[in-house]
Amino acid sequence: MLEKIQAVRGMNDFLPDECPRWQYLESVIKKHLANYGYREIRSPIVEKSALFKRSVGAETDIVAKEMYTFDDRNGDSLTLRPEGTACCVRAGIEHGLFYNQIQRLWYMGAYFRHERPQKGRYRQFHQVGVEAVGMASAAVDVEMIAMTASLWKALRISQDVTLELNTLGSFAVRKKYRDDLVVYLKRFEDELDDDSQRRLVTNPLRILDSKNPAMREIIDGAPKLVDFLDEESKAHFDTVCSMLDELKISYVLNPTLVRGLDYYCHTVFEWVTEKLGAQGTICAGGRYDGLIEQLGGKATPATGFAMGLERILELLPSDIGKINLDAYLLLLGDITQTVGFKLAEQLRAKGVSVVTDCSGASMKSQLKKANVSGARYALILGEQELQNHQIMLKPLREKAEQQEICLDDLGALVANLKTA
Ligand code: HAM
Repeated sequence: MLEKIQAVRGMNDFLPDECPRWQYLESVIKKHLANYGYREIRSPIVEKSALFKRSVGAETDIVAKEMYTFDDRNGDSLTLRPEGTACCVRAGIEHGLFYNQIQRLWYMGAYFRHERPQKGRYRQFHQVGVEAVGMASAAVDVEMIAMTASLWKALRISQDVTLELNTLGSFAVRKKYRDDLVVYLKRFEDELDDDSQRRLVTNPLRILDSKNPAMREIIDGAPKLVDFLDEESKAHFDTVCSMLDELKISYVLNPTLVRGLDYYCHTVFEWVTEKLGAQGTICAGGRYDGLIEQLGGKATPATGFAMGLERILELLPSDIGKINLDAYLLLLGDITQTVGFKLAEQLRAKGVSVVTDCSGASMKSQLKKANVSGARYALILGEQELQNHQIMLKPLREKAEQQEICLDDLGALVANLKTA
């Protein structure tokens, strides 16, 4: 036998048993976002590499280490999108969506990062991203957060997640803070781990985010961004916090929350859970007022977030996504097939879901398949039933008598199959 070709490491197939949970999650999210007036935008999976370098930042882990970048046949450098904000902003600028307009947008799809795969961290993963463009007020940051909080309720996972909140201040604040932080960290240069030594040059704020316990003491003693905030940055963040208090949305202030992408300013947040081990962030985002101008548009404020669908799926209650099939139709003998097919079509037209057994196998074998199909009823059509112009209705999931129903009495059949 030839050697089997397997999927790329860190990229998953989702098999039919898993897909109902995906469909459920996607449909709840779509409906939820529509209720807040957010509209879908779709953009290509591949973009010019320069887009991510200029937005996410050339020195970030995502761009420096994790992108799937290749030259196409024209020699252009292209990249499989590692995140969606840059793509959404690029498309919005290109099509004039942001010109003196407010946009509330969402997108859903596959994203690609060459990270070390583990539970909850994949090389192809799926996000729903949400972006609100054209509004500078703290109220929009709060709307974003409130919208996620109510989504967790709708998905019945509120009890498992905590909101972490921080402000990065304006870009001027961040620059001053960065300079002071570097001066402080340089005093400990020899004690920093390899990652932090590299970040000291490339992205010093990310050192605050280090998971290495050996770095803890140095980080704890570092200057705090909150002490650098100007009046405007303070006022913005105070409004976010007080509105969240009034809405009774609890949060934990986390001064080390800096995010791994360069475009953020002011409010940043993450929803985290302890139930998923190391990959516990299910949703993350913040304000990015500089990005649209940085990508060639007119200066426009914006804020947004993205959630990782694989991680949220892990938290969903187990009863979600169970098969929901009304009937499994057993056809015993070739001569029952045409009548059976017609009946199945009529039932489907009335909203009854029916799987037809086309195997021609024995009653015993077809009944076994009906039992594992997840259907609530078996419909049995044999030669005897056909002669009597009847069909047998057999409950599969509850203890109830089977009954015969006239083949012409579609109303009675539908009523029986739909009442569970
Ligand atoms: P991010 O923090 O890079 O932000 O990703 C958002 C979420 O995507 C993470 O919290 C996580 O749930 C999920 N995620 C990221 N990488 C992986 C992975 N390798 N495997 C599985 N899940 C993953 C962004 O992407 C920003 N664009 C969010 C944003 C939108 N900010 C403003 N607007």
